[in-house]
Amino acid sequence: MDRALLEFWEGRWRSGHTPWDHGEPAPPFREFVERFGAPEGRLLLPGAGRGHDARFFAEEGAEVTALDIAPSAVKEAEAANAHPRTVYLVGDILALEDDLQGSFDWVAEHTCLCAMDPAFWEAYARSVRLALRPGGQFLGIFYIEPHDEEGPPHKIEPATIDILFAEGFRLVEAFRPAKAYDSRIGREEVRWYRREG
Ligand SMILES: C[S@@+](CC[C@H](N)C(=O)[O-])C[C@H]1O[C@@H](n2cnc3c(N)ncnc32)[C@H](O)[C@@H]1O
Repeated sequence: MDRALLEFWEGRWRSGHTPWDHGEPAPPFREFVERFGAPEGRLLLPGAGRGHDARFFAEEGAEVTALDIAPSAVKEAEAANAHPRTVYLVGDILALEDDLQGSFDWVAEHTCLCAMDPAFWEAYARSVRLALRPGGQFLGIFYIEPHDEEGPPHKIEPATIDILFAEGFRLVEAFRPAKAYDSRIGREEVRWYRREG
């Protein structure tokens, strides 16, 4: 586990400086479920934060493994969003434990990749591929127009996401969500890929 990353994020959670947390699941995930149906099977949620999305997918029927590098985030998620179909784990998506590899039907993420320095993005995409079983699917909500160009969250171009997930993935659908937190309207893009290789 990357020590510097762990300390940065644990510090944010301990100090209570979590402005990204809106106290509810990401509206674009709701929109996805309304349009395409709920993800089924085992779902990995990296960068799960306080667990609102984890609980949402569990309530929709998935078996959720919610991962966060910050122990304090995991503690808060367990207190705020416990669900019989959700397990909260402390872990680094960039150093995926052996027992999590190749076993997921879905990886879903919301501002996890965009929270990372771009230097980590290729490793992140490799970890997503490693987590999924063949035929598994990746659903991400990405910040394409953040308020601060420097980040975090870091701006990412849809074309860059396609490059990151070019090897072994096929794009199923991409859309600008109509549903978003007020401060993010028009700033996000949902992209959905299927692992083929
Ligand atoms: C911007 S927050 C988003 C949290 C949540 N997805 C949400 O939108 O409310 C990013 C989260 O990713 C976690 N995180 C950052 N790097 C990570 C890594 N390498 N592995 C797992 N979690 C990570 C942080 O601790 C933080 O909770």
